[in-house]
Amino acid sequence: MEYDKLVSKALEARKNSYSPYSKFKVGAAVLTEDGKIYTGCNIENASYGATNCAERTAIFKAVSEGHKTIKAIAIVGVENGYTYPCGICRQVIAEFASEDTEIILGKSENDYLVKTLDEILPGAFTKKDLEK
Ligand code: THU
Repeated sequence: MEYDKLVSKALEARKNSYSPYSKFKVGAAVLTEDGKIYTGCNIENASYGATNCAERTAIFKAVSEGHKTIKAIAIVGVENGYTYPCGICRQVIAEFASEDTEIILGKSENDYLVKTLDEILPGAFTKKDLEK
């Protein structure tokens, strides 16, 4: 999977963003270990706390369809900067990440950063901690 294709899917998903309150549109695309792509957008709510971020929409779609390992996730917010996942989304990515999951922060199809989970969530609390 090329990064640009995943960013392009996230850009497409961003068009469906439901963000009447913040007007901040976000799109995400998850590539699963077996090559499937699930997309998502942020979905806001009049009760602000009920808002769901784009990353979690995409991840929950993948997991609910039986795909529990994220090979890569692309995230696109504003076009004049890179939009990093919020803290809650970083934790959810950690739950379904593998050793080499790639987190792609896209401005456009040909302008993106590629990060590891350890770079954006060092010392993550994961299921391994529950086994200690
Ligand atoms: N948002 C996301 O969708 N993903 C993030 O990682 C950051 C924030 C959304 C939530 C809300 O709809 C809007 O951006 C402003 O916070």
